Amino acid sequence: MDAVYTHGHHESVLRSHRWRTAENSAAYLLPHLKPHMTLLDVGSGPGTITADLAARVGHVTASEVTVEALELARAELAARGVANAAFAVADAHALDFPDDTFCVVHAHQVLQHVGDPVRALREMRRVTKPGGFVAARDSDYTAFAWYPQIPVLDDWMALYQRMARGNGGEPDAGRRLLSWARAAGFEDVTATSSTWCFATPEDRAWWGGMWAERILGSAMADQALATGAATRDDLLRMADGWREWAADGDGWFSVLHGEILCRA
Ligand SMILES: C[S@@+](CC[C@H](N)C(=O)[O-])C[C@H]1O[C@@H](n2cnc3c(N)ncnc32)[C@H](O)[C@@H]1O
Repeated sequence: MDAVYTHGHHESVLRSHRWRTAENSAAYLLPHLKPHMTLLDVGSGPGTITADLAARVGHVTASEVTVEALELARAELAARGVANAAFAVADAHALDFPDDTFCVVHAHQVLQHVGDPVRALREMRRVTKPGGFVAARDSDYTAFAWYPQIPVLDDWMALYQRMARGNGGEPDAGRRLLSWARAAGFEDVTATSSTWCFATPEDRAWWGGMWAERILGSAMADQALATGAATRDDLLRMADGWREWAADGDGWFSVLHGEILCRA
């Protein structure tokens, strides 16, 4: 349960998360949302998805594991004038809400970072009203695909997997979501997948530039250096690899995600 959040909340990480919308990150859930519903967003991060979801339901609660992380969502929703929202510090493993509280409990890119995702899903189910939905989407790092092959990006992938697992997370969560849902006791689970794709000059510059900064400035970079998993020169080479990919007119990157929509 004591997993460490690998990415941290460095500006380069938040820039990546703030690009997310309900449409590009929770499309599998949207057809099931109704204006009267209450929704809990577990691990809401900077809250752009939470704000979008608030426009589609009656009330949202953003939750985060620390006060500092929760403030990010609070600021985003305030800036966007979202009034139908509450905020709560809560660990996914032990949600501080009564049984049967919400119509929908949602977590985007969270279960890959928690120490016990099956326990988190049980908690998400406990606070969902019977007949409501538990919805989760997580990426699957081994299934990421890109072109051209740039050897140092394979080193980046290996380093990320090593750091994330060392922190108690599971970077290949996407493919495991269905198994985790079944282990948590869900019987009615719809499992799907969807991707993000970065293949225009603008998208390449954004995605590649963001990772070039993340590999040097995020919490993962600090951990890699502190544990000796990588040297500063290694990280600089990885950043160069990301910039090389972003500058290549043939550059294409696909990010596979698993999704589960579970009836409580
Ligand atoms: C990759 S971010 C995703 C943020 C947001 N859902 C999004 O997609 O933009 C993962 C978030 O999960 C939070 N988190 C990590 N461990 C958690 C836990 N045990 N309980 C609740 N949230 C957690 C982190 O603080 C972080 O903000």
